[in-house]
Amino acid sequence: MKNYVLKTKRLGLRNWTDDDLIPFAEMCADPEVMRHFPKILTRQESDALVGRLQKHFNEYGFCYFAVDVLSSNEFVGFTGLAHQTWESEYTPCVDIGWRLKRSAWGKGYATEAAAACLDVAFQKFEIREVLAFATDTNHPSIHVMEKIGMQNMGTVQHPKIAGDPRFKHCVVYSYRNQED
Ligand SMILES: CC(C)(COP(=O)(O)OP(=O)(O)OC[C@H]1O[C@@H](n2cnc3c(N)ncnc32)[C@H](O)[C@@H]1OP(=O)(O)O)[C@@H](O)C(=O)NCCC(=O)NCCS
Repeated sequence: MKNYVLKTKRLGLRNWTDDDLIPFAEMCADPEVMRHFPKILTRQESDALVGRLQKHFNEYGFCYFAVDVLSSNEFVGFTGLAHQTWESEYTPCVDIGWRLKRSAWGKGYATEAAAACLDVAFQKFEIREVLAFATDTNHPSIHVMEKIGMQNMGTVQHPKIAGDPRFKHCVVYSYRNQED
């Protein structure tokens, strides 16, 4: 029985386990999945990312959660919330992010998981504003931001893409707690 922090109609969101390391490394080594990032990740880099997400979960009770499809128990990637501390006019902040393996695209999973994460951000974790960042090229990701009701705030230079000629800047979207 998996320990889900939240469930949607089709998905379970949870902390990471060692069983996720291999499938996550496979996703992060897929150039198509990593197309809008500086590079694909090595096994060591993807394991280190899982370690950071587990640490974040233990500290705050949330992270970019591991996502399973409930009907098949299959791990398909991550969607969730994370504190961001890199330097810019928009940080520090909590952002929402998603990365799914290719076979899980086009099913509405990212939008379904992200909408549930926004709900818990406000209701359970008492976060007042959630931001989202994507390179200007990443139309599938920007589409998710718009579908969950986020507003375009402008652009920012993310240090990770600095000097990469493929990307001009990152776009920034925001969602504020409506009760504020
Ligand atoms: C970004 C990413 C998560 C988006 O995934 P996605 O599958 O395209 O996003 P969605 O969950 O919104 O699903 C898309 C489509 O599923 C379709 N779909 C099929 N069944 C559906 C259902 N039951 N409910 C809703 N939508 C469904 C919809 O038509 C939808 O497209 P539309 O809104 O244009 O009509 C994915 O492209 C990805 O993992 N990319 C690589 C990593 C990455 O770039 N992450 C973001 C960094 S900022």
